[in-house]
Amino acid sequence: INRIGVFTSGGDSPGMNAAIRAVVRTALYKNKQVTGIYHGYQGMMDGDFIPMESRSVSNIIQLGGTILKTARCLPFRTVEGRAQAYKNLVEAGIDGLVAIGGDGTFTGAEIFSREYDIPVVCIPGTIDNDLYGTDYTLGYDTATNTVIEAIDKIRDTAASHDRLFFIEVMGRDSGCIALNAGIAGGAEAILLPEKATAIDDLIQHLSKGARQQKSSSIVIVAEGDHNGGAYNVAKRVKEKFSHYDAKVSILGHLQRGGSPSSFDRVLASRMGYAAVNQLIAGNTRIMIGMRGNEICTTPLEEAINNKEYKLSEDMLEIAEVLSL
Ligand code: F6P
Repeated sequence: INRIGVFTSGGDSPGMNAAIRAVVRTALYKNKQVTGIYHGYQGMMDGDFIPMESRSVSNIIQLGGTILKTARCLPFRTVEGRAQAYKNLVEAGIDGLVAIGGDGTFTGAEIFSREYDIPVVCIPGTIDNDLYGTDYTLGYDTATNTVIEAIDKIRDTAASHDRLFFIEVMGRDSGCIALNAGIAGGAEAILLPEKATAIDDLIQHLSKGARQQKSSSIVIVAEGDHNGGAYNVAKRVKEKFSHYDAKVSILGHLQRGGSPSSFDRVLASRMGYAAVNQLIAGNTRIMIGMRGNEICTTPLEEAINNKEYKLSEDMLEIAEVLSL
C-alpha cells in the first residue's frame, strides 16, 4: 500500500472526523500517503479528491459531521459507476481504501473490492448501533447522550404541565438508542422494533402509573416500532386514555449532530489506527469492531449479512421494573 483513500458514506455520525484524523495520522506515521475522497462513493466517481497532510486534520477531533462530506449514492450500484470510480482511484495512485459508514457503505465496499481487487477496510460509523461484529458503532454513544439531554428537558415541561409525552427517536430498525436513552432518561415506557408492544398494553401500563400518582409520563418510541411512529401511537392512546394531556416530540436529525463524546472520540481513534494497520498488514474486506473493550475484525461479508440482536433481556427487564 502506498496511498490510502479515506471516505465517509451514508448517514453521518459524531466521531467520523475523529476517525478520519486517526486514519490520516496513522498512515503518515507509517510513511503512507493519504487522499481524502469527498462525498463518499459519489466523490469517487467524480474524482473529487484532496491530498491530506497532518494539518488537514487539525482541530477536527471535537467536530460533529464529517469534513469529507457524505452522501447516499445510487449510481455506484451500477457497473459503469464503479468502473469510473476505479479509473479515478488508479489515476490518483490510491491503492487501498478505508471506508467509514454503515451497512450500505459496506455493501458497496465489498462489491467494489471484489470486482477490482482493491483492498478495503471498513469502520462502523452510524448512530444506530445496528451492525454485526462490534458492541458499539461510532456516534451511537453521542446520539444517546443527545437524546437523554432532550428527554431531561422535555421531562421538565411534562412535569410542570402534568402531561404525557411521546418522544420519537432514530435508530432505523434498531432499538438501541431508544432502550438505552429510555432507561437513562427514566422513561415510563419504551416502544422498540425488536419487541412489539400492543397499544392496549401500553395504555394499561400508563393507567397503572396514573393510579400510582404519576402526574406525568414519558414514552420513548423508536422510529422502527411496529405501531407506525409517535404520532400514530399518541393518536391511538388518546382515543382510549385521557388521563393526561398528550404531546408528541420527534427529535429527528439533531440526534445526528454535535460534538462527539469522549467515548466516541477514543473509539474512533482506536478504529482509525487499527484500520490502517490492517490495510498495511495485507488484510482486506474486513470491518474493525470492538468487543468487550478489545479491537477486533470481522469479515465484511459477515458484517453485512449477519444481524445482531443487541438488546439484552436484562436491559428490557430493567426498563420495565424501574418504570413504575
Ligand atoms: O442511519 C442513521 C439514520 O439517522 C437513521 O437513524 C435514520 O432512520 C436515517 O439515518 C435517516 O436518514 P436521512 O438522514 O437520509 O433522512
